[in-house]
Amino acid sequence: LHASLTADPAQTVAPVHRRTFGSFVEHMGRCVYTGLYEPGHPTADADGFRGDVADLVRELGVTTVRYPGGNFVSGYRWEDGVGPKDRRPVRRDLAWHSLETNQFGLNEFATWCGRLGIEPMMAVNLGSRGLQEALDLLEYANHPGGTHLSDLRAEHGHPDPHDIRMWCLGNEMDGPWQIGHLDARSYGRKAAQVARAMRMADRDLELVVCGSSGSGMATFGAWEATVLEEAYDAVDHISLHAYYEEHDGDLASFLGSVADMDHFIDSVASTADAVGARLRDTKRIQLSFDEWNVWYLSRHRALAEVQPADDWRTAPRVIEDRYNVADAVVVGNMLISLLRHSDRVTAASQAQLANVIAPIMTEPGGPAWRQTIFHPFALTAASASGRVLRAEVAAPLQDTARYGGVPVVDAAVTHDEATGAAALFVVNRSVDQPVALDADLRGLAPAGVTSALTLADADAYAANSMADPDRVTPSPNKDARLEGGRLGLTLPPVSWSVVTLS
Ligand code: AHR
Repeated sequence: LHASLTADPAQTVAPVHRRTFGSFVEHMGRCVYTGLYEPGHPTADADGFRGDVADLVRELGVTTVRYPGGNFVSGYRWEDGVGPKDRRPVRRDLAWHSLETNQFGLNEFATWCGRLGIEPMMAVNLGSRGLQEALDLLEYANHPGGTHLSDLRAEHGHPDPHDIRMWCLGNEMDGPWQIGHLDARSYGRKAAQVARAMRMADRDLELVVCGSSGSGMATFGAWEATVLEEAYDAVDHISLHAYYEEHDGDLASFLGSVADMDHFIDSVASTADAVGARLRDTKRIQLSFDEWNVWYLSRHRALAEVQPADDWRTAPRVIEDRYNVADAVVVGNMLISLLRHSDRVTAASQAQLANVIAPIMTEPGGPAWRQTIFHPFALTAASASGRVLRAEVAAPLQDTARYGGVPVVDAAVTHDEATGAAALFVVNRSVDQPVALDADLRGLAPAGVTSALTLADADAYAANSMADPDRVTPSPNKDARLEGGRLGLTLPPVSWSVVTLS
């Protein structure tokens, strides 16, 4: 198969937002406990943060982390997680049917983020709680001092405010599974009230209102419109969540998942703009894609059955999906979609960071390793800089049962005017055919190829494991050649590639 691509610096989409490379840490399964935090682990520091995991998080290039949930936040009392550790209560986490020891909380999270140069992004509980608790948490986290809760923070060993800018107004409040689930009108009113009061405390916050839990929700579209009718003036972002998986061996549809993601983003942006037009409000609501990934959700439907009602465990092994080559290609493609939509998607969080549907896996007391999906994330975060250019792709279509004809090639191009560096991110979604790509980059006047890497394998289902942590890694694409500003590249079937140029 043959495909062509054109990108020109005269056609830009938007700056590359560093917040695109965000992640998500929920108190769920082993994401926090024995993931980021494991006192007594051979690599743990004095605070109990695993050094091997911290090193991988740095390599992954994560810029922001959303915390502490997820469904967990809708039953969470933030006060349980601050103060002397020996006085913190053990509570039941109803969302994941686990025991929460509260040994890791806001101050540990902020300290961990500070050490890694990560921007913390906090969610407030609008499920079992509401306005006053959100204001209390904001005062404790951000007020400089001289008030009851900011002084309490200082007493707890944190005199400096955490200065958290981005706040999520609850989590997936459209989902019937959510503790305190609300209809769109009630949630929109509640979120608007909380947002207005939070802004009275701190004008510079960036507030994210809950959109739909997925484009497949029965209320999708209507939910966004109603919530924004109530909260438009009070918020800055609306959230999107999407998880994809291969169903019934239908690899072609799975590889085409970004067709749905693109449509989802475009639909939410249009819906927000339509509400803005009706309200005569010229402000543009931005999109925070604050949960996205591959998740073999249908395999975990029976979670409740796996965990009997009377079995309450601390940090159980929950949804520890093991990712293969095809999953990494879809993750790389989702990053391409996020970059392509940088004019509207200004923040994103891959869900989650460690152990729970995660790029980083750990063994308690043992090693940490990279899943296949680690690689496209780390390389995209490291290589995308400057501005995203409009990439015009012409490629043959692959028939899919779910999305109809999907172009086999999808790509994004970034260009940093200051340094002259450019990067091409490209997937071949064909299940069995290589593609010869001709990329016309003459407008960028590239001097040479700095590196060309491809993630592919004869077995699209090959995966990494503790025993074989580097079974799947990107390798040099020796076929990359640049002539007169045109880049030629062979893309193996089911592959993700990055080419950097100077
Ligand atoms: O990331 C796992 C879960 O997926 C989150 O808790 C929830 O928000 C979503 O449904």
